[in-house]
Amino acid sequence: MKKKILISTGGGDCPGLNAAIRGIAKAAKRAKGWEVWGSKEAFNGVFSDPPELLKLTAKKTAGIHVKGGTILKTTNKGNPLEYPVQEADGSWTKVDRSQELVDRIHDLGFYAVINIGGDGSQKISQALYEKGLNIIGAPKTIDNDLAATDLTFGFSTAVQIATESFDKLVTTAESHHRVMIMEVMGRHAGWIALHTAIAGGAEICLIPEIPYDLDKILAKINKRYIKGRGFVNIVIAEGAIPRNGTVVGRRAADLGDQHIKLGGIGNYLRMELEEKGCKPQIRTTTLGHIQRGGTPVAFDRILATAMGVKAFELVEQEQFGRMVSYRNNEIESVPLEEAVKGNKFVSPDGYLVNVARSTGVSFGD
Ligand code: F6P
Repeated sequence: MKKKILISTGGGDCPGLNAAIRGIAKAAKRAKGWEVWGSKEAFNGVFSDPPELLKLTAKKTAGIHVKGGTILKTTNKGNPLEYPVQEADGSWTKVDRSQELVDRIHDLGFYAVINIGGDGSQKISQALYEKGLNIIGAPKTIDNDLAATDLTFGFSTAVQIATESFDKLVTTAESHHRVMIMEVMGRHAGWIALHTAIAGGAEICLIPEIPYDLDKILAKINKRYIKGRGFVNIVIAEGAIPRNGTVVGRRAADLGDQHIKLGGIGNYLRMELEEKGCKPQIRTTTLGHIQRGGTPVAFDRILATAMGVKAFELVEQEQFGRMVSYRNNEIESVPLEEAVKGNKFVSPDGYLVNVARSTGVSFGD
């Protein structure tokens, strides 16, 4: 009898998820003796009655590596450890359904699970592993903030999209002698902003790891005007914070999704600069979910495919409780426990920040 693997894609989507799914399906087909299934909308497909599962045949996964998003769909409202449940009186509460999930997966005859997701999803992987599930994690997120892996897939595509957008803003900034602020994603970590600043040649880059000082930003803007270039391009991460300030965002009304919805720091910065007397006209662009959509760049397709294949190999070798990782140009794996210990932040003293500073980028500090 064939052994069954269940794939789940959870949390925010990113380019490369389909390439990872295809990588798993292809490796399993080649190894023979395996059947690969997907759970619809993270683990909600397992909770559904009847279960919403998709058999991932060669036909179903053919050519999907080019497509953005996830053919399995996803949600950030399906955490089995804090599952949103509506009471009879209409109010909502959170229930731990993790043991029920593990039991259901076993009852459905699955031998192993591959959970593709970011830090939140991998914390779920670890909890399910502790409850006896044969589980492997595969890291994805455009934010690139997972510890224990040098890169997550989705990140390079987001950087490419952000850089191309930034390049467009540079030409219009130049024509109009304006200050352009481009807000990118990056909840806790400024990786997208930092990479875009270097690739796009930004004058100012503002990230969560280096709180900014408005006076320093204004001084940099003014200096550049006086020197004659007459325009300034700023990239700011959504999670950037002013010195002695807080993030800009608010709690979502969505039940089951506890994240503060970030967004708006770009406009906030514009207003603050105007109030401080910034003379040039300022315009703001918020890239938002454009960074998470569309076809993955070649590197993300390769990374996601390699991570998918590795995840299958770990299942084959019964090395459960591990997360696939990419370190020093090798695809390897680390215990989930280690992977979820913390996030990977931009080091203010790190090499890339130094590269940026050396090429004239100000971090507003
Ligand atoms: O974690 C990735 C990310 O893109 C963050 O940068 C962003 O804050 C968040 O997801 C937004 O997610 P959603 O709008 O799907 O809730």
